[in-house]
Amino acid sequence: MRKRKVGVLGATGSVGQRFVQLLEGHPWFELGALFASERSAGKRYKDAAQWFLPSKLPQEAAEMVVQPMDAIGAPANEELAIMFSALPGDVASKVERRCAELGFAVSSNVAVHRMEPDVPLIIPEINADHLALIEMQKSNRGWDGFIVTNPNCSTIVMALSLKPLLPLGIHTVHVATMQAVSGAGYTGLGSMAILDNVIPYIGKEEGKMERETLKILGRLDGASVRNAPFTVCASCHRVPVMDGHTMAIWVNFKDAVSADAVKDAFLNFSSEFKTPFAPEKPVIVREEPNRPQPRLDRDAGNGMSVSVGRIRSGNVGNEIKYIAQGHNTVRGASGASILNAEVLVERGYIP
Ligand SMILES: NC(=O)c1ccc[n+]([C@@H]2O[C@H](COP(=O)([O-])OP(=O)(O)OC[C@H]3O[C@@H](n4cnc5c(N)ncnc54)[C@H](OP(=O)(O)O)[C@@H]3O)[C@@H](O)[C@H]2O)c1
Repeated sequence: MRKRKVGVLGATGSVGQRFVQLLEGHPWFELGALFASERSAGKRYKDAAQWFLPSKLPQEAAEMVVQPMDAIGAPANEELAIMFSALPGDVASKVERRCAELGFAVSSNVAVHRMEPDVPLIIPEINADHLALIEMQKSNRGWDGFIVTNPNCSTIVMALSLKPLLPLGIHTVHVATMQAVSGAGYTGLGSMAILDNVIPYIGKEEGKMERETLKILGRLDGASVRNAPFTVCASCHRVPVMDGHTMAIWVNFKDAVSADAVKDAFLNFSSEFKTPFAPEKPVIVREEPNRPQPRLDRDAGNGMSVSVGRIRSGNVGNEIKYIAQGHNTVRGASGASILNAEVLVERGYIP
């Protein structure tokens, strides 16, 4: 397969660096352009980005000159097939729309467009059929390109774990998260704020988990998505962990369900996708009583699998509780966008 050239918007940031790292050696995609703010534009990537990932800065990216946002439409960028977006929301709102107008396929991490009715919010193992919204989006807006989004990092981890439980009849979901500091961006949280501490507030995070989950697990009904018919109640917390979001989840079912039935549902959940970033097992069951843990489990399935464990009965109604854990900047951000882009290629949305 001919490799498609791709661009990264917000390439110097926390999620942007993950894109650069994960795209190195990708069998279908190769880096064609890197974009960031005026602060970085004109510098070589190795000088603009304060590289903080443990792997070496990929050579192909190191010497590339970072471009400003207004260079996106330049003739040299016309050959880019996909724009991966890791921009702050206020910037992404305008830039992503402009990219779609210019004819690019945008695979975005950013929240701003996720809940728009004609924008697919995709986790392929759950709702790849929602990609049908792309045609609606293009015709509604008169765009040659389009925007596809992946959910918020904690939502992805929880939603993947809820998908196998849908046939058991979910009534309500409660979740308490323990989220890694990398989720706040590289400059997002001072070390004095988080070391020896827990911060019981992450702006807008609870609403995202509560709303996005229902769209993803909802049903495509003609021109729109009908939300999944249950409620989600979230409490989100930042903890001094570098990477990997952990969450305690309580699912109340419509009828009595055993912990073994829930475990079997996780074990039997498989993925139809065989693209480079699709994990063989989207959900991995840990049997040990003290797993999953971020340090030990975040890299499962190359960071693309969610690990679950401690599946047990609760005390309220038909409740089962468990722990879920996933890598927030791989499965929860850049890896999710790359997987979405692979599925777009596989399904013929990108020529
Ligand atoms: N971190 C996560 O786990 C995670 C997970 C899911 C989604 N997200 C979302 O992904 C996006 C990026 O998050 P992040 O954590 O990577 O943020 P970050 O580390 O702060 O990086 C922001 C990036 O955007 C660029 N940028 C900032 N202001 C700009 C402007 N005015 N014009 C053009 N470029 C600008 C920065 O370039 P300079 O270096 O030049 O300033 C940098 O490349 C956010 O929308 C976030 O909500 C993050």
